[in-house]
Amino acid sequence: MLAQCRTATPWGIDARPVRIEVDVHHGLPSTQIVGLPDAAVRESRERVRSAIRNCGFELPPRVVIINLAPADLRKQGNHLDLGIAVAWLAAVGHLTQARLDGRLVVGELGLDGTVRPVRGGLAVADLAHRLGCREVLLPIANAAEAAAYGRVPVVGIGTLGEAVAHLTGVRPLACAVPEPDDDTAPPVADLAEVRGQQGAKRALEIAAAGGHNLLFVGPPGCGKTLLARRLPDLLPPLTRSEAIEVTKVHSLAGDEPPAGLLRRRPFRSPHPGVSTAGLIGGGAGVPRPGETSLAHCGVLFLDELPEYKRDALEALRQPLEEGRLTIVRSRARLTFPARFSLLAAMNPCPCGHLGDERRECRCTPTQIERYRARLSGPLLDRIDLHVEVAAVGLAELTAAPTGETTAVVAERVAAARRVQAERFGDGVAMPVNASLGPADLEVHCPLDDAAERLLTSAFERLALSARALHRVLKVARTIADLAGARDLAASHVAEAIQYRALDRGLDL
Ligand SMILES: Nc1ncnc2c1ncn2[C@@H]1O[C@H](COP(=O)(O)OP(=O)(O)OP(=O)(O)O)[C@@H](O)[C@H]1O
Ligand SMILES: [Mg+2]
Ligand SMILES: [Zn+2]
Repeated sequence: MLAQCRTATPWGIDARPVRIEVDVHHGLPSTQIVGLPDAAVRESRERVRSAIRNCGFELPPRVVIINLAPADLRKQGNHLDLGIAVAWLAAVGHLTQARLDGRLVVGELGLDGTVRPVRGGLAVADLAHRLGCREVLLPIANAAEAAAYGRVPVVGIGTLGEAVAHLTGVRPLACAVPEPDDDTAPPVADLAEVRGQQGAKRALEIAAAGGHNLLFVGPPGCGKTLLARRLPDLLPPLTRSEAIEVTKVHSLAGDEPPAGLLRRRPFRSPHPGVSTAGLIGGGAGVPRPGETSLAHCGVLFLDELPEYKRDALEALRQPLEEGRLTIVRSRARLTFPARFSLLAAMNPCPCGHLGDERRECRCTPTQIERYRARLSGPLLDRIDLHVEVAAVGLAELTAAPTGETTAVVAERVAAARRVQAERFGDGVAMPVNASLGPADLEVHCPLDDAAERLLTSAFERLALSARALHRVLKVARTIADLAGARDLAASHVAEAIQYRALDRGLDL
């Protein structure tokens, strides 16, 4: 007898459809899996057989062929167990084929028949919706994230026995109900708590509004980390389509499936010891997203920038440039989205006091040189805003806070982001000025005469690279958006040029 069941295998952040066909006939008993399974899938044969027995079902001694189609798609991981089990049970007559039609079944089985969570549950629901399935069966631990997707009925399954009882109609299970969105913001660390630092706060606002990359350079204890940690609360919540993409990434990478759609923009601050694979993704076995993808639609914060490994920093170039990471595996190309703003902080020299008015720098020129050399020109080039942060004076530190609150600044950021969303139209992840391509700049950054003259002279005087010039234009566009201006005026361009401090060499 032949039975079939639809299932899925992970592919990048998405899931690809797989059809399981189980053929059972008389002959010398044997069981075979064909159709490009990886090692984890091959082991599935023994897990599934034990699970079926331990749930009390008889398996007559037969020739069993399990075919996974399409044959040229490499099937990975443990998503297929539950689908194989129910198709096998249908092939030996424990349930009818009609019960499997129109359903998508995904789950890993334990030997005792319990259904274990898989990575990427939300992507499975997305696939089921696109295939027009009437129902998707998933491990109970993945039900919440899949239900949050909301466009296909999701049934959470605890054991193989439960799945069979549900499918045959003996004990039907209710569909999972989505939890309210996870937008319970943790206590806000307010921008107003940071004293002084008007210039750095302004740069933070511009970075938040336009999704720009930002580097703070300043002496120890001037408030760089303090400022950086206040960026996430300046950003508007994720839109629904962004939330789906972001949740898919986190579902693949996390140890536990998410409890619903993520709504807050990610803020990732990996340790300086992070490996290249940890930072940008990949690794042995099933490729996993790295920190750059976990920061997708949000912020990647690298505090103490020169302490990161040079290789890891160099590897940031592809995601910074393309907004995604491509991994080539066994003749297939996988991509992970990685469109984030880079926020970084560093001291100007190893002792930290170069340029500090109150303390003398004790570093030798060679030490300073070596410290700076850890950051390559091309990486600095890709950072739109370079900001020198000075130490704050005692009077300022002890005075009552005078600056604007996070809520006030966040409102201006939200308004500027609305202007940008209109500029980009629908269907773009992170519709912010930082994503403008060179061709878009001509359309969206019209300069008046004075602005044009200013830009030309800065280009010569500062010996800007073409890339740096484009960054100036994008930042100027954001400054104009914050001001509600349509055209770029000289004042917008002048402010944007100020943020190229490191192109002139860092002589503070
Ligand atoms: N502008 C400021 N307003 C209020 N408090 C400040 C300010 N700057 C520094 N502080 C105080 O100093 C502490 C250290 O600041 P922070 O960690 O941000 O310094 P940093 O610039 O990151 O230094 P480092 O280079 O050593 O990492 C803060 O926890 C805060 O208590
Ligand atoms: Mg710090
Ligand atoms: Zn120094």
